Amino acid sequence: MTNKNAMDAPFIQEMMDITQIMWRNGWDERNGGNISYRLDKDEVAKYLDLNDVKRSIELEFPVKELANEYFIVTGSGKFFKNIQKNPEDTLAVVKVAEDGMSIDLLWGLVNGGRPTSELASHFMSHIERLKIDENHRVIMHCHTTNVIAMTFVHDPSPKAFTKTLWKMCTECIVVFPEGVSLLPWMVPGSNAIGEATAKEMKDHRLVIWPHHGIFGTGESLDDAFSLIETAEKAAEVYMLVASHHSGEIKQTITDEELQELADAFGVVPNPNYL
Ligand code: 13P
Ligand code: ZN
Repeated sequence: MTNKNAMDAPFIQEMMDITQIMWRNGWDERNGGNISYRLDKDEVAKYLDLNDVKRSIELEFPVKELANEYFIVTGSGKFFKNIQKNPEDTLAVVKVAEDGMSIDLLWGLVNGGRPTSELASHFMSHIERLKIDENHRVIMHCHTTNVIAMTFVHDPSPKAFTKTLWKMCTECIVVFPEGVSLLPWMVPGSNAIGEATAKEMKDHRLVIWPHHGIFGTGESLDDAFSLIETAEKAAEVYMLVASHHSGEIKQTITDEELQELADAFGVVPNPNYL
C-alpha cells in the first residue's frame, strides 16, 4: 500500500486550510481552539492503510456510541498557526476502538502528543448531534474575540444573549433560528464541561463558554465555520455598539420584525427565546 499518500487526502487539506483561516481571523491564538471531523471509512482507506495502527491512546470517558468511527482531530497544545506547514505534527487521524475506551492513531502526531484536551466535549457532542442528524460531521471550538468580550458585559441568559445576536445582523435568525446556548463558567478540558456542552448540543448548534470561546457544529467544516463566523460578526457589531458613546441603542430590529424574518425565510425561531 506504499502508493497511498496521506497528503493527497481532501480531509487533511481541508483541515490545513480552515485552521489557517481561523488563525488569521484571530480566533485561535497559540494552541487555542480545536476541531474534530468525522470521516467515512472508505474515504480514509483511499489515503491511509487502515491496519497500520501507530499507537493506541486511552480515553478517560467511554464513547461506545462512536465505536469504529474515524475522525481527524487537532492535537493538544498544537498551534493553529503551524498546522498548514506541519500537518503531520499537529493533526491526527484516529479510529475509535470497538469498546469505545481507546482510539487508534493511524496518521499524524509524529512527534508525540495526544488529540485535543477537549476531546470529551467533542466526542460527547458528536454523539448528541448524530442522534439528530445522520449527516453530522464537525465539532469546532475556538476563541472568538467578540463573543468572549460580550460574555463580560451582556446578560448571560441564553434567551437574552440570543435575542441580542439575532438583532445585531438581520440574517442571524435565519442562520441559527434555534439560538445559542451558554454554559456557566467551567474548567475546560474536563469530562464535566464535555457533558454540559453535549447536553446543550441536543437542541443548539452553537454553545458559548463564557470568558473562553464558542463551540459550533455542522455537516461540514464550512458549515460549522460559517455558523461561528455569523455569531462572531453579530457579537462584533454588538461590541461596537456597546462601546459607542453611552452604549445606548437608539433603534433595533423588533421582536415582531424577527418573526417576520423567520416567516419570510421559512425558519422556526426557538419558542423559548422568541
Ligand atoms: P488543546 O490545545 O488541548 O486543543 O486546547 C486548546 C483549547 O482551546 C482548550 O479549550
Ligand atoms: Zn479553548
